[in-house]
Amino acid sequence: MESSSTANNYKVEEEEEEENVELDLSSEIEIEYMNYGGEHHLPLIMSLVDKELSEPYSIFTYRYFVYLWPNLSFLAFHKGKCIGTIVCKMGEHRHTFRGYIAMLVVIKPYRGKGIATELVTRSIRVMMESGCEEVTLEAEVTNKGALALYGRLGFIRAKRLFRYYLNGVDAFRLKLLFPRSAINPALLMTTNEDGSHAHINRESQEGSSQFY
Ligand SMILES: CC(C)(COP(=O)(O)OP(=O)(O)OC[C@H]1O[C@@H](n2cnc3c(N)ncnc32)[C@H](O)[C@@H]1OP(=O)(O)O)[C@@H](O)C(=O)NCCC(=O)NCCS
Repeated sequence: MESSSTANNYKVEEEEEEENVELDLSSEIEIEYMNYGGEHHLPLIMSLVDKELSEPYSIFTYRYFVYLWPNLSFLAFHKGKCIGTIVCKMGEHRHTFRGYIAMLVVIKPYRGKGIATELVTRSIRVMMESGCEEVTLEAEVTNKGALALYGRLGFIRAKRLFRYYLNGVDAFRLKLLFPRSAINPALLMTTNEDGSHAHINRESQEGSSQFY
């Protein structure tokens, strides 16, 4: 594990600084994407999420996700500064193996450049390679940006959850189903009569999303 002085090499953005950042929107910016790499990444993730998402999370919640599924969490950097992150998990749920996107943030000056799309795509690819059959998340019904982003990626609104968030706002549960052909057949799971799970090969189906 790296020391905290290394963590300080990455600048965690302050709000005033954010407003002053000027990006040349006409030029290509080079963004570096990294898998969660250890405890030194945790303050970077927490800082972005605490600032941009309405729901408060404890350090235990962050650790739950990044310790158990480090391969599903990514950070985006520009010139050494963390400017975006995604935190996810996966596991069995009602006889399916599914991914779940818990947190997604890109800081304001860097929005609209496809960074969230890249973060989501990277996590979803790992989920698919790991045998997930679907991926879900919740988004505030008022969060037009997130709903547009996920809609563009092929997610559908599966359910409306009344007053889901602590701020009293309803949520949409969004879902993206992966076609069988996109999942590594060796990783597909089925439920045996005794309730245990087994890996099986399934027939191919055609998909249309950009992930397949
Ligand atoms: C939602 C969020 C992650 C999007 O990040 P981003 O890097 O700007 O997203 P992308 O550039 O990949 O956007 C891809 C597409 O999503 C849609 N989209 C994203 N933000 C949008 C907005 N504010 N309004 C309308 N459409 C939007 C657009 O279709 C966009 O494609 P386009 O730019 O070619 O039109 C970012 O706005 C954010 O961090 N918001 C605050 C935190 C949050 O709401 N997280 C999601 C919780 S569910």
